[in-house]
Amino acid sequence: MFVSFEGIDGSGKSSQAAMLVERLRGSGTEVVASREPGGTALGERVRELLLGANDVAPWAEASLFAAARAQLVSEVVVPALERGAWVVVDRFLDSSLAYQGGGRGLGVDAVLELNRAAIGGVLPDRTFLLQVPVESALSRIGAGRLDRIEAEGAEFLETVAGEFERLAVRFDRIQAIDGTRSEGEIAEEIAGSLCLL
Ligand SMILES: Nc1ncnc2c1ncn2[C@@H]1O[C@H](COP(=O)(O)OP(=O)(O)O)[C@@H](O)[C@H]1O
Ligand SMILES: [Mg+2]
Repeated sequence: MFVSFEGIDGSGKSSQAAMLVERLRGSGTEVVASREPGGTALGERVRELLLGANDVAPWAEASLFAAARAQLVSEVVVPALERGAWVVVDRFLDSSLAYQGGGRGLGVDAVLELNRAAIGGVLPDRTFLLQVPVESALSRIGAGRLDRIEAEGAEFLETVAGEFERLAVRFDRIQAIDGTRSEGEIAEEIAGSLCLL
């Protein structure tokens, strides 16, 4: 089973991914947890490039994310799924569709095309989109912790959030979750949805 968490920064992805992983491990299930960009040695180097550099051209940004994703799929996701483990990732394809496709204006379908080649058809079985208003997300994380992309500002994040919402309507695998509730309530909804209760 391949599960991804999506949403803007501060929406609670990392918290929910960690809670799901803990629940699965507690029941004796093998889980491989990863994050994007990163999750492999090459991907972590790409992550530094992506989040640290100034002035990255939009298609360079989209291509670097796709490169890190290609490596993650081949090195981590496919081997884990083949031996029957669960894979839980903090961001995956839909972040590229929302941030580069929507936020940077490259177009969702163009970015999807690039990523189709990169991931070779390996899609999450289930994607949980954590939805919180941009202002709440920003106040949760505090202005000091923003990386290059998140520092684009509230208007950019509104565009990204709107694109995530459209993706949830378009793709059946994406389930929109009200992320404004307590961590525990959200975790229960997600576990229920995965038939883990
Ligand atoms: N449901 C929630 N309600 C209130 N605060 C939350 C909730 N989920 C996470 N947080 C807090 O918000 C911040 C961002 O959460 P995090 O899981 O890191 O989000 P993301 O990975 O999407 O950026 C953290 O300080 C976390 O403790
Ligand atoms: Mg996070």
